[in-house]
Amino acid sequence: MIYNTFALPATADRYLVVTDKQQLLDLIAEGSLSNTPFFILGGGSNVVFTSHYRGTILHLENKGIQLLGTDSSTGDLLIVAAAGEEWDAFVHHCIANHWHGAENLTAIPGTVGASPVQNVGAYGIEAKDIIHSVRTIHAETGRERIFTNAECHFGYRTSIFKEELKGQYIVWSVTFRLHPVFTPSIQYKALSDALSAAGISKPTPSQLADTIAALRWSKLPRPEETGSAGSFFKNPIVTSQHYEQLKAQYPDIVAYPVTDGYKLAAGWLIEHAGWKGRSLGRCGVYHKQALVLVNLGGCTGDEVVALANAVTADVRQRFGVTLEKEAIIL
Ligand code: EPU
Repeated sequence: MIYNTFALPATADRYLVVTDKQQLLDLIAEGSLSNTPFFILGGGSNVVFTSHYRGTILHLENKGIQLLGTDSSTGDLLIVAAAGEEWDAFVHHCIANHWHGAENLTAIPGTVGASPVQNVGAYGIEAKDIIHSVRTIHAETGRERIFTNAECHFGYRTSIFKEELKGQYIVWSVTFRLHPVFTPSIQYKALSDALSAAGISKPTPSQLADTIAALRWSKLPRPEETGSAGSFFKNPIVTSQHYEQLKAQYPDIVAYPVTDGYKLAAGWLIEHAGWKGRSLGRCGVYHKQALVLVNLGGCTGDEVVALANAVTADVRQRFGVTLEKEAIIL
């Protein structure tokens, strides 16, 4: 069984699988999560193991997806899913039940529990757009706490669980706000282009999800074939002034305006720093999408970090932009 999608060799002092809440509360009561470091492993799709983990790896496998009810004022559907559910199985369960809004997030590896932590996103939608609240358990006291959407402090690929309260709360389940009526979100350029090319102007939920999955797999390696952690870096945000300078020098640079400047396509920067398809040791920059680092066979976590550092240094030197890792390095 591979517990990290990069398929890196990894060991830890302890590896625990938790399927029910009492089991987790017992572990907390015996001090298992407060006396030694712990790390919650979801689908292992965003993590790079570089050395033996001196602590406990906790793998949540609690299951269940349930319609809680309808919000009487908005008509929205509230659906709760256990942290251990596989993300894409959840998305497809929603589509099959005509609960709409999660379609654009199809084919993302990982678990439901990871979705609020790093606010997963793709094709114009982020988890924060559909999350109502997050039920958590405090790792030291075992007390339950529900975070409303606003309390999660969501940002681009981040949240309070990755920042201010890192390592303090264990996400146990997530409640989503979905809709009984399907209103497709198809503004993302690559998506609207793909739909037009297929002659689809009003996609059904399944057509939308299938188009996105095809688009995604045309650029990203399939985890079962090639190890990777998806996007390895975040798309960096630079000031408008910095962007204007870059644009003057590189007219075809890809960027999107955001509130505090411009978000640059890191894949473009890496490609134009000459790294697309190149490798260092047994780790490579994926030839179809430069934002993704791949295991070329037998790669170690140290090789991943070495390549990431080399790419970051070159991008900084050429564009004056510092890339931030999206993947977690352990
Ligand atoms: N680009 C290049 N060269 C490359 C890669 C991309 O020039 O090697 C350019 C593309 O031509 C395009 C632009 O960069 O104009 C954006 O590319 P793409 O649509 O593939 O999206 P991205 O910004 O590279 C982000 C997310 C992905 C998500 C896609 C689609 C991040 C870090 N990554 O990638 O998320 O699937 O948008 O919404 O925000 C993930 O987080 O693991 C992930 C795969």
